[in-house]
Amino acid sequence: MAVGTKKITMNISNNWMPFLFVVLFLASCKNDKKIEAPMANKTEQEEYSEPYRPKFHFSPEKMWMNDPNGMVYYKEIYHLFYQYHPESTVWGPMHWGHATSKDLLHWKHKPIALYPDENGFIFSGSAVLDKQNSSGFGTDDNRPLVAIFTYHDAKIKAAGGTGFETQGIAYSVDNGESWTKYKGNPVIADENSTDFRDPKVFWYEPDQKWIMTLVAGNHAQFYGSKNLKDWVLLGEFGQDKGAHGGVWECPDLISLKVEGTDEEKWVLFISINPGAPNGGSGTQYFIGDFDGKTFTTDQTEDQWIDWGTDNYAGVTFSNAPDDEKVFLGWMSNWQYADKTPTSTWRGAMTLPRKLTLRKEGKGYALFNYPIEKVDGLISEGSTKTLNIPIGDELSLSTDSLMQSEIRFTTSSKDFQLKFGNQADEELVLTMKGDGNAFTLDRSRSGKTDFQENFGTSIQQMPVHDLPDGEYEIRILMDGSSIEIFLNRGQHAMTALVFPSEDYKALKIVNASDNALEFTDFGICAIKEVW
Ligand code: FRU
Repeated sequence: MAVGTKKITMNISNNWMPFLFVVLFLASCKNDKKIEAPMANKTEQEEYSEPYRPKFHFSPEKMWMNDPNGMVYYKEIYHLFYQYHPESTVWGPMHWGHATSKDLLHWKHKPIALYPDENGFIFSGSAVLDKQNSSGFGTDDNRPLVAIFTYHDAKIKAAGGTGFETQGIAYSVDNGESWTKYKGNPVIADENSTDFRDPKVFWYEPDQKWIMTLVAGNHAQFYGSKNLKDWVLLGEFGQDKGAHGGVWECPDLISLKVEGTDEEKWVLFISINPGAPNGGSGTQYFIGDFDGKTFTTDQTEDQWIDWGTDNYAGVTFSNAPDDEKVFLGWMSNWQYADKTPTSTWRGAMTLPRKLTLRKEGKGYALFNYPIEKVDGLISEGSTKTLNIPIGDELSLSTDSLMQSEIRFTTSSKDFQLKFGNQADEELVLTMKGDGNAFTLDRSRSGKTDFQENFGTSIQQMPVHDLPDGEYEIRILMDGSSIEIFLNRGQHAMTALVFPSEDYKALKIVNASDNALEFTDFGICAIKEVW
């Protein structure tokens, strides 16, 4: 869309030692984006060039988006559905928007897949390929895709009633292009329930049946079915486990092999709102076992897939190639989601992240890290070793950091990275001296006053279990988001930022008592996908 090539030139100067002034050109950051003819009469929105618009993350063409829904891979296409309000940039009657992709990075917008009906709005849910045509919605030669979602009846809710959330299904026999709702909807109802939603379904091979995980207020429930239409409650989990600062939402139960072994563990994701460690919405997970009826864990500490404020309602793709578990979350927080200063649209997804499980001491550690294909978007660049003496700081400047990757390796646990602009705004990342926490301070990062909680507290992420030696730090910035991965996804932090001008400067501060070394340090531009 944007025309021409872009280079990131990095001038590196050591502030306090002018004679040691170094100019490093990472101009070899090559951006082989095609040069296209200017597109006549394209609006900012059509060009995805509005202020704060992500360039390599998914965002809807226009209007409001929240949770990812119905993520399924079929016939070499990834389908992403999402909570969508086509008439406004704030939440309202929910539809399922739809987009498709061959690589999870370049997306094609599709017509709305599911519209509200007499049963209510279409809330979050999942989609599966019904390989055996167990539902009978397809034929032997043409297997159906089946979507399983929550109906939310706003009228009953407004009247103070209960049972306003029920589960419905719909199917597609044309590879996800169009969807037909099942005549027997809803397929699960509970007249006493209030928060009863977000079904995520998978095929459970040992019992030859479908398992649905859904949330009922403060716990998860597991249902089983042979045909996706008739469901039986099998088990429950969580009333006395995990964080309970808010209602449980958007569950996902997946199995993962422990890396390098044949051991299989189950991971249950539960989003909660509010009650996340840095305020508002967040996604916790439990590592344990599933016996076909219920989930159990001996985990005692709360675990979060991402410690930043802006990764919510994330779940994994169904039927992904090689049974890879690819996770996508909504980059926002219910505390301020409808107040963020974007224009024609609101909401974006995180980068697709591959989940892996490792054995760590007596326990397990879940890693989440951008899928490898993201590397293909990053322009090639040379890397440098940076040495910053005790008490010193290094200032780097670039054309813009707003669509870039910053990546390096270090063994230090004591430094700061400050992203700045001409408007004297600053986003500050700190690896705390004691090596116990990594923090993100966006209090002076730009526009923050659209909501009282946005800029007030410093976001904290415990990192005491990082390796003693070298580890990688990778930061991806895109328009209005920053995603930070420590040690290739052992710890992740995602946050929104709205600087009033592009960040162009990066300061690396060494306030420690040791010399600071970053190896393989590079800043590279990232190609846009729209
Ligand atoms: C999570 C959530 C879900 C619900 C949907 C409504 O963000 O609250 O629980 O299904 O959003 O849009």
